[in-house]
Amino acid sequence: MLKRTHTCGELRKENIGETIILNGWVKKRRDLGNLIFIDLRDRYGITQIIFDPADFPEAHTIAKNLGREFVIAVEGKVSSRGEQINPDMPTGEIEILATKLEILNSSATPPFPLDDEEETDDTRLTYRYLDLRRPHLQKAMQVRHKIALAARNFLDSQGFLEIETPILAKSTPEGARDYLVPSRVHPGNFYALPQSPQLLKQLLMVAGTDKYFQICRCFRDEDLRADRQPEFTQIDLEMSFADQEDILKITEGFVSAALKAADIEVEEVFPRITYKEAMEKYGSDKPDLRFDLQFVDISSLVTETDFNAFKVTLENGGIIKAVRVPSGTTLTRKLLDKLGDIARSGGAKGLLTVKYLPENKKQSPLTKFLSEEQWGNIDKATGAVEGDILLIIADKPAIANPALGNVRNELAKMLNLIDPEKFSVLWVTDFPLFAYDENEQRWTSEHHPFTSPHPDDIDLIESAPGEIRSCSYDLVINGFETASGSVRIHNSNLQKRIFNLLNLSESEINERFGFFINALKFGAPPHAGLAIGLDRLTMLALNRTSLRDVIAFPKTQKATDLMTEAPTCVNKEQLKELKLEIANEGEK
Ligand code: AMO
Repeated sequence: MLKRTHTCGELRKENIGETIILNGWVKKRRDLGNLIFIDLRDRYGITQIIFDPADFPEAHTIAKNLGREFVIAVEGKVSSRGEQINPDMPTGEIEILATKLEILNSSATPPFPLDDEEETDDTRLTYRYLDLRRPHLQKAMQVRHKIALAARNFLDSQGFLEIETPILAKSTPEGARDYLVPSRVHPGNFYALPQSPQLLKQLLMVAGTDKYFQICRCFRDEDLRADRQPEFTQIDLEMSFADQEDILKITEGFVSAALKAADIEVEEVFPRITYKEAMEKYGSDKPDLRFDLQFVDISSLVTETDFNAFKVTLENGGIIKAVRVPSGTTLTRKLLDKLGDIARSGGAKGLLTVKYLPENKKQSPLTKFLSEEQWGNIDKATGAVEGDILLIIADKPAIANPALGNVRNELAKMLNLIDPEKFSVLWVTDFPLFAYDENEQRWTSEHHPFTSPHPDDIDLIESAPGEIRSCSYDLVINGFETASGSVRIHNSNLQKRIFNLLNLSESEINERFGFFINALKFGAPPHAGLAIGLDRLTMLALNRTSLRDVIAFPKTQKATDLMTEAPTCVNKEQLKELKLEIANEGEK
């Protein structure tokens, strides 16, 4: 075999005159009667090859048989393209005049084009090894590698040890369903694949590891979306004798280093906002700050009004929230209706509009219900001027804020407010410790049950759980929750109080976390940590919207692998060995 001397992305005009060998795949063949042109592709790029029958008839004859995706080795001379420079290709100034050609393998015709950036669909997933040949996916794999490597190097430089924790594990409560693995040796018993290494990394702190990290696979059986896969990768870390500030600082360090590896520069210190402020200003605990559209609370400006929706809302302790949309009068009726639907699907009764028309006129169902003075105050508070529109929701804060938050996100899309060059990284802190689950009529942890309550709020555990702030923090990038972490409880009594509030019985606690509570009794140091989604971070660094674009072998929305067809039935013998029976044989 002719072994390559260079890659297909490497040769430049400085190499003109050299005799080289390239190996790669035939991306495209153009037969111009006499001359045959080939675009040869490998991971590194594309180089144009020319076969000229006048000079090298043998190579030219073989080249006639080349099809798309054939694997070849070609020897030739680097030449200038003269007038035919292709400025869009890094190798566009040169071409190779082929002297020898060896076909290393033929290829069946690929079932879809391999040079576009179309979304990966089911056919592409079935032939993922072909899909992955596309340059943008090759790039994604490279960027992912660089991000992980930069994070690993940074954490190493700060004294963190990479320690592996088991995959065949015991359930960790991260809020999703577990993937279970039956044990052959202990029939009727199951391992759970880790939803995260949460408990084990905390136990490593008890063990004196001091600074741990792991680039680890996590498994969660939950409803899938474009930003959620059943198995995904976290960069997971934990630190002893550390508080929130230490974790934020370390994270800022490794995230900046990782993004730099993907050619993205961010501030060294990330801005912060509390959960409360994020909800009040942007109606989301993961606000996208690449655009503004901040909310204004106009409740105090409209207390005197006969407008019924406002009156009733304020009497019931609700709020009136407005968002000013600059040049919003350009929004068509249809788009405004869509925004209204979005507000209503978030539980709001409706979305009021105020159009700021020329000559200081306002068009709104509200117009006549407010005095000139009240309007003046609203204009001042919101900054609305001619051409703008105000969108208003009156409701309980728990409905008005998130509903207007959804409207805000949709507006950004409708009005094209997101600059793709911008990158917004933000800490959201002080999340509530608990949320009340109306369906199940019980308190649940907002993060996970090992999160420490804010020291000032510990006395509220039994009396006012809904008011307790937690020592937890999320890293939000471009409106996506990318990392999450907290200061942990290191006191077994406090941990028990939390479990009690979550309505876990003593026996349940012992069965599920007995080993953990026990460990906290043996000198557990104060500790804190965080995990960032490597897949999400890479997706955002590449400005993509689906995790499929950054995971080599992703699963579908139904958690299947179309290429290998996993999950599959297993044979009777395997089931027998595991002492398992399928209840409904007919059902898959
Ligand atoms: P959390 O559950 O918030 O925290 O997960 C941390 C980060 O992991 C990523 N992530 C996912 N990525 C892709 N697909 C999924 N299904 C998925 N689920 C989560 C997100 C998320 O921010 N043990 C805690 C961390 C800690 O407290 O240290 C944990 O796992 O980017």
